Amino acid sequence: MTTRKRIAVLVSGNGSNLQAIIEHQQAHPHLYEIVLVISNRPNAYGLVRAQNANIKTKVIDHTMYENRESFDKELQKSIDEMEVDLIVLAGFMRILTTGFTEHYLGKMLNIHPSLLPKYTGLHTHKRAIEAGDKKHGLSIHFVTPELDGGPVILQAEVDIDPKDTEETLAEKVHIQEHNAYPLVVEWFAKGKLLLKGNQAWLNQKCLNTPVLLNDLN
Ligand code: GAR
Repeated sequence: MTTRKRIAVLVSGNGSNLQAIIEHQQAHPHLYEIVLVISNRPNAYGLVRAQNANIKTKVIDHTMYENRESFDKELQKSIDEMEVDLIVLAGFMRILTTGFTEHYLGKMLNIHPSLLPKYTGLHTHKRAIEAGDKKHGLSIHFVTPELDGGPVILQAEVDIDPKDTEETLAEKVHIQEHNAYPLVVEWFAKGKLLLKGNQAWLNQKCLNTPVLLNDLN
């Protein structure tokens, strides 16, 4: 029997991506196990979602730490205690230190609500609308020390309609996020997805361009 990959999910808020990954796990229990959900915010709804699924939770409140280094050190200790194979950032709104990202190089994924390299950082939906873009979307990437800058594995595009607001666009992106993230986590859990050097590899092929979810459907 192959052992299931052990996953920690880090959240800061609503946790709808966490929910999608939990539901995917429940539908395919042999694929992976979510062994820990950590939030830097005590009132994050993602913690409730985890508890409802009987997953161990931990709050590491960043406001209680003097600096990023001491917060990340505690985060790393809690993750390493659980001997995880993969860390999934799912709406985890903290900038991570270089040391932390290097410790988990090739073992940490992030989802970002834009078609990277466009719009790193915050307010991505608003910025895409204000720029007059016709398309927006999401990117899932390996985490490296560069903020939102690691090799992109998969993107999903959504159309921006003239009537779209920041809220309606965010909703469209969220729907695609919930399709995309479980799929990429599954690839990793099956050993199909790797980081080699500064490139993502899927099914033993180097991803010179990210997979486009729209092409898979
Ligand atoms: C998601 O849209 C995710 O892409 C974004 O936060 C949201 C979390 O939603 N992440 C970032 O902006 C990271 N830079 P959720 O809590 O409902 O999963």
